[in-house]
Amino acid sequence: MAVSSNEHSAGLRELLAFYAEAGVDECLLDEPADRFAESAQARTRQAASAPSSGPAQRREEAAGGSGESHAPRKSFLPAAQPVVAARPQAAAVPDGAQAALARELARSATSLEELRQIMLAFEGCNLKATAKNMVFADGNPGADLMLVGEAPGRDEDIEGLPFVGRSGQLLDRILAAIGRDRTSAYIANVIPWRPPGNRDPSPMETEICRPFIERQIELAAPKVLMTLGNPSTKALLRTQEGITKMRGKWREHITAGGVHIPTMPTLHPAYLLRTPAHKRLAWRDFLEVQARLASLS
Ligand code: URA
Ligand code: URA
Repeated sequence: MAVSSNEHSAGLRELLAFYAEAGVDECLLDEPADRFAESAQARTRQAASAPSSGPAQRREEAAGGSGESHAPRKSFLPAAQPVVAARPQAAAVPDGAQAALARELARSATSLEELRQIMLAFEGCNLKATAKNMVFADGNPGADLMLVGEAPGRDEDIEGLPFVGRSGQLLDRILAAIGRDRTSAYIANVIPWRPPGNRDPSPMETEICRPFIERQIELAAPKVLMTLGNPSTKALLRTQEGITKMRGKWREHITAGGVHIPTMPTLHPAYLLRTPAHKRLAWRDFLEVQARLASLS
């Protein structure tokens, strides 16, 4: 049965509304890029140039040619067939090996700048493929206070700096309330690349990126650390407890080198924008941190 163009555009509108609700609010490229297909093609090419005939190559032969050939084919199969067939085993899914590599690379960094360069060159996190910029840090790396959020959003991705959007403006006002600004605080995120459409980073993406932020904390060596919101608290304090229970109580972040850094989990500014009544709780946490820093100096 034919679908009328009215039905068709109603379907499209629904799909767009669904995307908007899911946070997919911008186009990164004019044409959609199928990263899975790209990596499948790369592997197919690799397999084709390998001396022995692997499964990918056999699949190609069966499909009537190489993925790059545009010569007329006798086979009735559509040109895209080899890629589709190769998809299940060829997806560029990050895995434990990337997390192990990240740990090794992070450990090798002897300065924050070296760490930044290492992260810029790191290809093991798929979030990098869709991000415009890496977001490393803002503020003063020599500050006694370090704040760690979750991941860059749209504004941060565009500017390459953490907390520059609405959440960041609120964070700046909170810092000002304890007499601080970005010259007296160092700010970073657990994840340095914006997840597409602001989706939550996957546990594996967090696992891959965690060694970098841990090394960043270790090299910045703040006297006090604040984790902003649930994901950052869970990642850096290695806890499953929720932020509403964790906030306001001192914990310790333990670096790879065994340094214990007093850490205050607090509510995330984005959460405070949605739940302004809880600003007083965050306010208390920041005052507590300021008092502790005053007593340490
Ligand atoms: N939210 C975060 O967790 N980090 C940012 O940099 C911006 C918003
Ligand atoms: N959930 C979060 O992720 N962060 C908060 O600050 C509060 C609830």
